Amino acid sequence: MTRHFLTFEDLSREELLLVFKRAAFLKAERAAGRYLHRHLEGRAVGMIFNKHSTRTRVSFECGINELGGRAVVLSEGQTQMSRGEPVSHTARVLSRYLAALVIRTYSQDLLVELASRGSIPIVNALTDEGHPCQVMTDIFTALERFPGLPLESLKVAWVGDGHNMANSWIEAAGCFGFALKLACPEGFEPDPRGLAKARTRNPAVVLTHDPAEAVRGALAVNTDVWASMGQEAELDRREKAFRSFIVDSALMAQADPRAIFMHCLPAHPGEEVTEEVLESPASAIFDEAENRLHVQKALLEFLIPPL
Ligand code: CP
Ligand code: NVA
Repeated sequence: MTRHFLTFEDLSREELLLVFKRAAFLKAERAAGRYLHRHLEGRAVGMIFNKHSTRTRVSFECGINELGGRAVVLSEGQTQMSRGEPVSHTARVLSRYLAALVIRTYSQDLLVELASRGSIPIVNALTDEGHPCQVMTDIFTALERFPGLPLESLKVAWVGDGHNMANSWIEAAGCFGFALKLACPEGFEPDPRGLAKARTRNPAVVLTHDPAEAVRGALAVNTDVWASMGQEAELDRREKAFRSFIVDSALMAQADPRAIFMHCLPAHPGEEVTEEVLESPASAIFDEAENRLHVQKALLEFLIPPL
């Protein structure tokens, strides 16, 4: 059976934990200068980007190279799909060349269709519905910052937009059982179906409209931009709605004294988070960025069967 990573539900909890373990190993090996793990030797992984990217594109491309493979990067407008070639044809054609396909786009439905019509693993590199590779990495990063902490004991706060990142945090909390408190402005709440589903597995997933309430006692405080890719035209409306959802030092002071600050990046310093918090010792932003590489290498090893 072909395995995919479109949402957290595609892998079991045990499998996700295996990916974390392998990522830690690959990180240590790389730090020691050992690039011996060549699972993708001689193989190609496709990457389709219908939105901008710095971290996702570079971390996947470097990771594929480090695993001995080759990345074939296709940007918006460069495939026949953008000229109307059926997705079902594209999925079957690409499956004849590639070991896997990493895709960043708007609609989650496109990923679902590629997965159902092709025969290679499809990896969600961000859609309007989720960013599971980022949230996997963020959990890995938080556990690195709190060595020995059981995953179920993590307390995560989400402050801001209930968009793709928030949806993936909700899925992850449903899967792993850690406490997640989200504070979103009214009208910007996450997908209610995802929230309800996660809450059936984990009642410690809670939605509020009060940032201080969400952050109180948290070990990891997360935020994201006010207008995600594709929402730029809404920025004025969003600036008004999100004004009281800025992560600043006063808000961080409500969290556990050991709390870290997390942001998937790119950030807008002075908007959703202050420069002071971004540059504070609590900030884990560059570790998150680095860890994309290690976690995604482990994920590709897991998803792509050996030759
Ligand atoms: N965090 C993240 O996905 O960054 P990019 O948009 O630069 O890929
Ligand atoms: N929510 C942001 C995340 C960017 C990595 C966006 O979708 O633009």
